[in-house]
Amino acid sequence: MTILIDQPSLDSQFDDKNVHVHSKETNEHVLDGGFPLPKEVSHNNGFTAPDINSFGHSFRDYDAESERQKGVEEFYRLQHINQTYDFVKKMREHYKKLDKAEMGIWECCELLNDVVDESDPDLDEPQIQHLLQSAEAIRKDYPNEDWLHLTALIHDLGKILLLPQFGELPQWAVVGDTFPVGCAFDEANIHHKYFKDNPDMRNPAYGTKNGVYTKGCGLNNVMMSWGHDDYMYLVAKENGTTLPSAGLFIIRYHSFYPLHKESAYTHLMNDEDHENLKWLHVFNKYDLYSKSKVLVDVEKVKPYYQSLIEKYFPAKLNW
Ligand SMILES: [Fe+2]
Ligand SMILES: [Fe+2]
Repeated sequence: MTILIDQPSLDSQFDDKNVHVHSKETNEHVLDGGFPLPKEVSHNNGFTAPDINSFGHSFRDYDAESERQKGVEEFYRLQHINQTYDFVKKMREHYKKLDKAEMGIWECCELLNDVVDESDPDLDEPQIQHLLQSAEAIRKDYPNEDWLHLTALIHDLGKILLLPQFGELPQWAVVGDTFPVGCAFDEANIHHKYFKDNPDMRNPAYGTKNGVYTKGCGLNNVMMSWGHDDYMYLVAKENGTTLPSAGLFIIRYHSFYPLHKESAYTHLMNDEDHENLKWLHVFNKYDLYSKSKVLVDVEKVKPYYQSLIEKYFPAKLNW
């Protein structure tokens, strides 16, 4: 991998905010979505979810982790205050340069192992296990959809934004549920109350249901809060991936829980979004329930995933 070290510091982006973002505390929490789920969810489309996770608790049982819960709430307070329309615009412009590194997809999977999801109550294994567990579970149930296996493998690679060479962004700018900016924050958003201190609340142009968008404009035209989803979408798209539209949609919106769990913001969708959302619903079950103790033998499955990477991506990508 070639890491290019010439990159502007992003600290100035955050210094004018009333929240300090590079503190030790915020960097100790890594989230990947935040809605507690009902415990009875288990059978769906032939996929059986395990009853307990590696901590011996029900999945996403945040009550059993009340200290963690406080960390989650503080995380969303920071996220809701800082994710503004202008912030997202700046992040998109900055990362669109793709000037941070040159590496292949598998290299990035290995790099992501340096990131451990410490405050995700369901995840106690290295990230590559989460990626491979999701991918292998989908492969078993949808053997012919090879694009979906690869999509699962790469869906969280954008979390490298937490690493120093990719900007070391604060947690609230990388993980957690995502939502549109530039229009009213729907009440389906977790910890909605914290949006009251978001500066966009004082801009009437962003305060209506459609905001700066039009009904049915398509999610592609909507600015989403910045995080690992939108970054990985950008990397895949700009490097000319041949993944189908549904694969890119999954990568880009897999943390958009207000949409795929609560059906909020559907007024902004177009026909293609509605088609793609069906696949996101399929994918999401595996994203949540594949975080189990059964480890995947990485070396054994590596040749299969490398063949998929070759099929859908160039050997080296710009990040
Ligand atoms: Fe994710
Ligand atoms: Fe994930």
